[in-house]
Amino acid sequence: MTKKNQSQYILAIETSCDETAAAVLEYSPAVGFPNITKHSAVIKSQIKLHANMGGVVPETAARAHVKNILPVVKKALEDAQTDLANINFIAVTQGPGLIPSLIVGVEFAKALSLATGIPVIPINHMVGHLYSPFRGVGSKIEITTTKESLAPEIKNISAVFPMISLIVSGGHTMLIVMKNLYEYEVVGQTVDDAAGEAFDKVAKLLYLPYPGGPEVSKLALESKNPVDFPRPMIHTKDYNFSFSGLKTAVLYYTKDQRSRIKDNSVVSNICAGFQNAVVDVLVTKTMRAAKEFRAKSVSISGGVSANKALQQALVTACQKMNLIFFTPPQGLSTDNAEMIGIAAAIRLNTKKPLAKNLHIQANPALVL
Ligand code: KG4
Ligand code: ZN
Repeated sequence: MTKKNQSQYILAIETSCDETAAAVLEYSPAVGFPNITKHSAVIKSQIKLHANMGGVVPETAARAHVKNILPVVKKALEDAQTDLANINFIAVTQGPGLIPSLIVGVEFAKALSLATGIPVIPINHMVGHLYSPFRGVGSKIEITTTKESLAPEIKNISAVFPMISLIVSGGHTMLIVMKNLYEYEVVGQTVDDAAGEAFDKVAKLLYLPYPGGPEVSKLALESKNPVDFPRPMIHTKDYNFSFSGLKTAVLYYTKDQRSRIKDNSVVSNICAGFQNAVVDVLVTKTMRAAKEFRAKSVSISGGVSANKALQQALVTACQKMNLIFFTPPQGLSTDNAEMIGIAAAIRLNTKKPLAKNLHIQANPALVL
């Protein structure tokens, strides 16, 4: 790793849920969007550990983070062919998330900071997701898109704002209006279950492994006759969502079909029907917001944004309204440290002074 003029290095750490992740990013300030180069990214997933329990067990997750954090951070530094002596900032997820998991990352970052004097930048996990589709190339912005999507080469970052940003993860469902890179407002969120949580709960009802999203979407592909499930809150004037009623509708339907639940076509029709309902609600509300707020672009991020049916439906809807669509690169929809480093680089680019970092506390309910 050869240091360029003005370059600074960020070690990013993410432990908000069940992934222990670290990344090393190179950053240099720029007008519009900072220059960011990824040098390494390591993710140690705990999926196997939690799959047996059908979901994340917070204490188990925290114990695994304690075990994994040092090797993961060491590997990220090694892969970047560097060491702590070259690191200028430590970015860490402060919240929201599971408190036992968050504490591990935050206290690890603070201990590193105490030992080395490197300042810590606390990052809101949701800001990480929000910025995860952005990749910087100086004053130009490099947008990651799906193959089918319609992102022209964007020379000026202002060309994408206002942007409607849909964050759909295991813990959150949020619709955000971004006026620019730094000013954004949450205009809607779920009143009960998050979209990813609904995928996970439906998978559990169908005896599918955790995490449920990828399983449900895989089986949905085989469906010939999707079940017609309700679309909760699709026509309400606000931008809020509700998925718990949909999950209950799936529960009753599944009970009704109990004798046939081992039948693959029944399961795939339930999966496809459920996925169609979620996608329909998410796309309808996102595009209504895009219209109302005169958006120039739409982005999705968070674990559920890996869902191909959702991506495809949004691409089609954006094409109809002539909007730019973008989403994180493959593998970066779900939790990772790279997005935490990107958020830190964007924060550094504001040139605002950093807070006193050894007072940072993990905050499970940190708001956007
Ligand atoms: O963003 P994330 O890794 O963690 C949180 O911050 O919550 O999101 C995890 C969620 C899980 O609920 C998982 O089932 C869901 O993302 N997910 C998907 C897909 N891949 C992951 N949901 C639907 N379709 C997928 N392909
Ligand atoms: Zn997340």
